[in-house]
Amino acid sequence: MIQDGEEIPLLGGDVTEGLVRVGDTVRRPPGERADLVRDVLRHLEKVGFEGAPRYLGVDSTGREALTYVEGEVAGRPRPRWIADEDRMVSVARLLRAYDDAVEGFGLPENLPPPIEPPGLPDLNDPPELVGHQDVTPENVVFRDGRAYALIDFDLARPVSRCREVVNLMLWWAPFGDDADLDPLLRGLDRARRCRLLADVYGLPETDRRRLMELAIGLNERAWHTMKYRAETLGGGWQRMWSEGVGDQIRNRQDWLEANADALTTALLSGRS
Ligand SMILES: Nc1ncnc2c1ncn2[C@@H]1O[C@H](COP(=O)(O)OP(=O)(O)O)[C@@H](O)[C@H]1O
Ligand SMILES: [Mg+2]
Repeated sequence: MIQDGEEIPLLGGDVTEGLVRVGDTVRRPPGERADLVRDVLRHLEKVGFEGAPRYLGVDSTGREALTYVEGEVAGRPRPRWIADEDRMVSVARLLRAYDDAVEGFGLPENLPPPIEPPGLPDLNDPPELVGHQDVTPENVVFRDGRAYALIDFDLARPVSRCREVVNLMLWWAPFGDDADLDPLLRGLDRARRCRLLADVYGLPETDRRRLMELAIGLNERAWHTMKYRAETLGGGWQRMWSEGVGDQIRNRQDWLEANADALTTALLSGRS
């Protein structure tokens, strides 16, 4: 039985409305693939993976109940440490551990279709595991200066490891022109940071060679998907779109194309 109690709103995410903390739990209205998230979280508990909330059940009002993970989340305004290399490296380590832990879950069949526009080009990127796919600063809980847990599995889906690393770099290298980044994230050596992320994750060479092409393809898709979600789902998606996320994605496309060769060189240099 999941207890009722005083509800403290949790702010800082972009999308989920009505998220609250109750005691040492959080309650979330079920997301678009709630059954998958439940099964993944149960699998992570079964294999003893500590870096995710535990799934507790559905409460009296139909919301998912998860454990509240104590720690520090890099919301807005961003904390001073947001660009620290050690923090970044610890996120890569956590994502690798998650991917390894979730691999045994396998690839689920009969998922509800993703909410994205029809006719997106195929990226020729076969899935290997159920990736997290939303490793934003808001979705990582830090403890003692290190990434401790991933939260917010709403975008979890079957993907390749390479695609997990693209998502990691997107937020933690990060990808994009300085002008579009938080002031604390400007002037960073992105080639060095991408290389570190790939090394700490342990990305194989074949994936390093194709990573930038995949990143460009995914960014292109992201523009179409965000627009479609804004139009069909409204809410936080519409808010992000009207705040200019589409233009940001377009600018990022230019940045990715301009920097692809240099970043690929960094990912491969010194490897035989
Ligand atoms: N299980 C949890 N443990 C600790 N904090 C959480 C947890 N779930 C959510 N939060 C807090 O609430 C914020 C928004 O939650 P999130 O699940 O990421 O929603 P959204 O879908 O809006 O991004 C997070 O950035 C985090 O600060
Ligand atoms: Mg979130």
